Amino acid sequence: MPRYLVTGCAGFIGSTLTDSLLADGCEVLGVDAFTDYYDRPAKEEALSGARDHPSFTLLEQDLAADPLPEHALEGIDGIFHLAARPGVRASWGAGFEAYVSDNILATHAIADAAGARGLRLVFASSSSIYGDALAYPTAEDTPPSPISPYGVTKLACEHLLAAHARDSGLEHVALRYFTVYGPRQRPDMAFTRLVAALVDGTEFEIYGDGSQSRDFTFVADAVAATIAAMHEAPPGATYNVGGGSEAALRDVVALVEELAGRSLHVRYGERAAGDVKRTLADTTRIRSELGWRPRTDLRAGLSAQLDAAGALAPSTG
Ligand SMILES: NC(=O)c1ccc[n+]([C@@H]2O[C@H](COP(=O)([O-])OP(=O)(O)OC[C@H]3O[C@@H](n4cnc5c(N)ncnc54)[C@H](O)[C@@H]3O)[C@@H](O)[C@H]2O)c1
Repeated sequence: MPRYLVTGCAGFIGSTLTDSLLADGCEVLGVDAFTDYYDRPAKEEALSGARDHPSFTLLEQDLAADPLPEHALEGIDGIFHLAARPGVRASWGAGFEAYVSDNILATHAIADAAGARGLRLVFASSSSIYGDALAYPTAEDTPPSPISPYGVTKLACEHLLAAHARDSGLEHVALRYFTVYGPRQRPDMAFTRLVAALVDGTEFEIYGDGSQSRDFTFVADAVAATIAAMHEAPPGATYNVGGGSEAALRDVVALVEELAGRSLHVRYGERAAGDVKRTLADTTRIRSELGWRPRTDLRAGLSAQLDAAGALAPSTG
């Protein structure tokens, strides 16, 4: 039975990945520090299924502060490194220090451990390394130009892993996720805020005029790409993971209203610093090299997220 280490196992994507590995019959050692980026109860809830599973073990630890105990890596076949401080808005100003720690220092530490043990490491990078991209759809060889401190830390991590590869022979794969959504999505992300506003009857704030568009990726598709990368990607590869469902935020609002059978109170606020105008992944490389493709379109994925929150209109369910 393969045994994997999943960092960030209590987070949105990490917990979904953990559940998927356990369902495939793998053993999982999950590491998470339950950082304060958002509340612990949401993470506990996300991890509750795994915690009850006999093949799951949790190690609560800050990867940036302490090295992994020697025994933690015994019998491990590969590392999925998803632990990070996400989100662009909070990465400005005094918030940056925590991004340096949770993203750059933690990745350096896990790369050291993986390199020393000859373990493959799949790293969760981000479309934010492209900034306002120089070309759309954006291919992996488009020159990166992040416009947020968060994006800078993710790009730094990619370079850090490449440096470790030269030094220790570390086998790594970087996945540039494009806006992931679905059940358990982080509370700071737009769809979760949208659903909460619907359920609570409160206002939904759009940062900017709502014309900003994203290539939305359903979480199960992101997880499938992540597992495929562990098994099949050549060492050192980098892939875009994009759902192929580009939509402007204001069109998402209309779709959510349709699926929920209710109207939202929308307020337009300031555009957030570091938010890019558009993302759209060119996924030719991952399709041809790993045979991966997104399977869930925006309507189906949003329905699943609304359903999980009990906000889907009965007729749509
Ligand atoms: N959600 C997206 O749309 C998206 C897009 C691009 C990239 N990513 C990347 O995917 C990964 C997962 O994102 P998510 O949305 O699930 O975020 P998340 O915040 O829900 O999960 C990250 C988890 O990592 C843990 N963590 C943070 N710092 C840690 C540390 N120093 N030591 C141990 N654990 C630590 C947190 O407690 C959290 O549970 C992140 O690396 C993120 O940057 C996410």
